[in-house]
Amino acid sequence: MILKNTSEIDIVRANSTKINDVDFENLTFGSVFTDHMLVCDFKDGKWEKPVIKPYEPFLIDPSAKVFHYGQAIFEGMKAYKDENDDVWLFRPDENFHRFNKSAIRMAMPEVTEEIFIDGLKTIIDLERDWVKKGDGNSLYIRPFMIAIGSGVIANPSTQYRFMIILSPARSYFAGEVKVIIADHYSRAANGGIGAAKAAGNYAGQFYPTKLANEKGFQQVIWTDDATHTKLEEAGTMNVFVRINDTLITAPISDRILDGITRKSLIDIAKRDGIKIEERSVLVDELLTAAKNGSLKEIFGAGTAAVVSPIVGFSCQDVYYELPKIENSFANDIKDKLTKIQYKQAEDTFGWMVKI
Ligand code: COI
Repeated sequence: MILKNTSEIDIVRANSTKINDVDFENLTFGSVFTDHMLVCDFKDGKWEKPVIKPYEPFLIDPSAKVFHYGQAIFEGMKAYKDENDDVWLFRPDENFHRFNKSAIRMAMPEVTEEIFIDGLKTIIDLERDWVKKGDGNSLYIRPFMIAIGSGVIANPSTQYRFMIILSPARSYFAGEVKVIIADHYSRAANGGIGAAKAAGNYAGQFYPTKLANEKGFQQVIWTDDATHTKLEEAGTMNVFVRINDTLITAPISDRILDGITRKSLIDIAKRDGIKIEERSVLVDELLTAAKNGSLKEIFGAGTAAVVSPIVGFSCQDVYYELPKIENSFANDIKDKLTKIQYKQAEDTFGWMVKI
């Protein structure tokens, strides 16, 4: 994809930078933001000219629909810096298309490529000093859209704000990841908004995840809402299960996010001859495999989480520890993915886009 240098975006530069106050070695995910943000409003049926300006709070009407009806969507992406100081985006066209799919599902206007892609290019170029070199370092990119039109009547807003904010990042999880398999609460339902990156999908998980956290688990692996018998996703990441030498991940449906890391790992696995199946994993199958020793690994995959091995899971109040193995698929596939992202391995798929 061609990223244009555009004069269609106004830039108002910050008077000073916060970069020297940041401890880049000790970052809590998503807590530090760069000096600028991109803002673009939708009014009178069209998008206005985007502007990049100093990162700051802004005012919106208390009756704005985002507050009352949750009309809000987002994306998660990362930029990486290679050894030559070039900055790269990973598959930005995928995020652009998924963002607009989410917009359609939430009755919001689609953004143009000029706003989303050229907006990314311009703001990341401006903030390139914030993208640090070295394994594990990245600039997490959060494009999002909220309904800013006022009025508490329950219908779609006529005014929206699209924004891009940037946050230097290292790992998402601070330590080991243990999960609970959901048997009561659900993340998504057939015909619902599970496949959209809608803000409410995440808020709906906070309470059951809080209950899991209180028991010492970091995440919940969601199961299908109708029967709680099939593994789906973990909410902040898609889930892969390895039984013997086969990797299995749930097929995309309207209950599961079409993860870009997920689909990239599937492509890498296929390229490298790892047997991969896109099918439902039954909870019973997982328990049988855990008991007979054929369950080798479970890992999550997402932009923020990258590839996160899961060390154990609780199901029906029984805790199962995953075995420690030598030839971990999670480690292997993570290494292959991140080497492409950091431009340390040939990008045979043509995924990387230079800023
Ligand atoms: C991402 O991986 O980018 C996500 O959107 C998940 C988010 C909860 C951090």
